[in-house]
Amino acid sequence: MEDTNRESCDEMEGHAEELHSIPDLRPKRFSEYIGQKQIVETLQIAVEATRKRSDVLDHVLFYGPPGLGKTTLAHIISNELDVPLVHTSGPALEKGGDLISILTHLKQGDVLFIDEIHRLPKIVEEFLYSAMEDFAIDIIFDKGMNARSYRAKLEPFTLVGATTRAGLLSSPLRERFGIQRPLDFYTIAELQKVIVRSAAILDVTIDEEGALEIANRSRGTPRIANQLLRRVRDFAQVRADGHINKKVATDALKLEGIDKLGLNPLDVRFLNVIIEFYKGGPVGLEAIAATMQEEPDTLIDVVEPFLLKAGLLIRTSSGRRATELAYKHLNKTGFKKAGGSSSQLELPQ
Ligand code: ADE
Repeated sequence: MEDTNRESCDEMEGHAEELHSIPDLRPKRFSEYIGQKQIVETLQIAVEATRKRSDVLDHVLFYGPPGLGKTTLAHIISNELDVPLVHTSGPALEKGGDLISILTHLKQGDVLFIDEIHRLPKIVEEFLYSAMEDFAIDIIFDKGMNARSYRAKLEPFTLVGATTRAGLLSSPLRERFGIQRPLDFYTIAELQKVIVRSAAILDVTIDEEGALEIANRSRGTPRIANQLLRRVRDFAQVRADGHINKKVATDALKLEGIDKLGLNPLDVRFLNVIIEFYKGGPVGLEAIAATMQEEPDTLIDVVEPFLLKAGLLIRTSSGRRATELAYKHLNKTGFKKAGGSSSQLELPQ
């Protein structure tokens, strides 16, 4: 078992500083968190009520594309509840024993955070059912005729699960989360605020237009906004006077290969393959992945969500199609409207 850490808020900040001396841009409290307003408000209520009752918070599931704040919110929950957080991930838990050893060490009210929970092996997932519902696990000794089971009691805890692929969770697992929240892409105005806040932490000056330029190219994702901000800060310090304005941001992002909509070289390659290789589609994802020599999961999790959201890509029952907007954006000609046959009806997301 790897990658399982027990952290309190203070320890977490300490590690980040010791290891990299890179300032941690992630908010630590609900009051610092920008965006996802309704989600934050409902979580705040749940946390405050839990504290008032000296209770244990219901299990929480966050789902949505990478970089939108699932891990950050898990840490904020543990900070606000003033309890430790144990951080692990689906792929790190290979055997039932890995999970048992974590569960039996949890104290009342602790937060167990499982990232990429859709990648939990089935055998491990099955231990979670009774752990989540009854705060107990059934340990089986021996096999066949001699098999005996022993029920070990656990201290009540809160499981916070995060996944980019809620559809891959089994119903028994999904149903055991009392609080389920989809994280959505951020608005440009929200990203602009994130960038201004992060610039202050990074000790770099930025004006509203500079922040807007970065926000426009951040694909609705604060993690990308912060990554781009760091690159623009480097550029500002080396090629300008250190201050970030619209021109500095534009020049820096152009050099990084980020276009006006925030598409990076991988996004552009994805759309180009559909348009040039498959005549605009419809084409199956596996075929696109094979042509690009990329993992289908990377395309599904990292590339497609924003292209769909931006209206550059659609999914039909017969495959992916590049939209007219994608053709225009990439300066391509030859867009053909979908035929009216029922097999090409567009499906809702
Ligand atoms: N940094 C990354 N995500 C953030 C958010 N949602 N609010 C404030 N700062 C952030």
